[in-house]
Amino acid sequence: MYLDRFRLDGRKALVTGGASGIGLACADALSEAGARVVIADLDAGAIDHAVAGLTAKGRGVEGVMMDVTDRARVDAVAQSVGAIDILVNNAGIALSEISAEVMEDERWLKVLDVNLNGAFWCARAFGRGMLARGRGAIVNVGSMSGLIVNRPQGQAHYNASKAAVHQMTRSLAAEWADRGVRVNAVAPTYIATPLNAFADREAPMYRRWIDSTPMGRLGEPEEVASVVLFLASDAASLMTGAIVLADGGYTCW
Ligand code: NAI
Repeated sequence: MYLDRFRLDGRKALVTGGASGIGLACADALSEAGARVVIADLDAGAIDHAVAGLTAKGRGVEGVMMDVTDRARVDAVAQSVGAIDILVNNAGIALSEISAEVMEDERWLKVLDVNLNGAFWCARAFGRGMLARGRGAIVNVGSMSGLIVNRPQGQAHYNASKAAVHQMTRSLAAEWADRGVRVNAVAPTYIATPLNAFADREAPMYRRWIDSTPMGRLGEPEEVASVVLFLASDAASLMTGAIVLADGGYTCW
């Protein structure tokens, strides 16, 4: 009875940035639970690799090229891909380690464009279909950086983008709650993915991250994907507008 509520048989999910890291783990988790998963990304080679890997596990997956910052493309995919029951707004970039006073315009705009604008274009495009059908679940991948200020690296652009994603989550949740569409977010700590490859594991910055985390380690993509699976499933049927921390205790200190 309870475990059945985590099943996603007969549902179709789309994961943005689904070809790598946390997104790929989400595609793995959702497809294991029975959903057909569309991996939407801008890296064609990575999409092919991800689709091949999950297909080899017997999963129902397909890939589509989609840059989340391209509104017209997002709308076109929403028209062509068929009814989407679950959207995971995961595509994101960091371009981290930059002090605010020397932040280039392009860097600020690029990070806001992918992390915030892209998430909104996708929520709007795929949310329309969900609202029309009276059911759906959107899970945004936010960050603990939307709640705290990371240290020692400067990343005002990233932190601002994720705080905005959290507030967008709550805004859409409130607007769409009585029309059958739930909108939640997961807020992870540092996760071992290519996004964090800029951090040399021997460097003081990396040590600072670990020392600031009660669990004393980075998270794994699968530890975020399991939260996404929960939020996407009927097991979370009472949840909307929640920002669920998966941070190894980072925000306790
Ligand atoms: P990643 O770099 O491993 O994967 C990101 C994926 O998004 C890649 O496949 C990339 O091709 C795709 N992508 C980038 N820009 C895109 C665009 N404009 N349109 C479509 N796809 C695009 O990154 P990771 O770590 O898996 O990050 C996923 C999400 O998790 C991001 O939103 C990130 O901000 C968030 N996050 C990551 C944390 C970490 O420590 N790795 C911590 C907290 C949140």
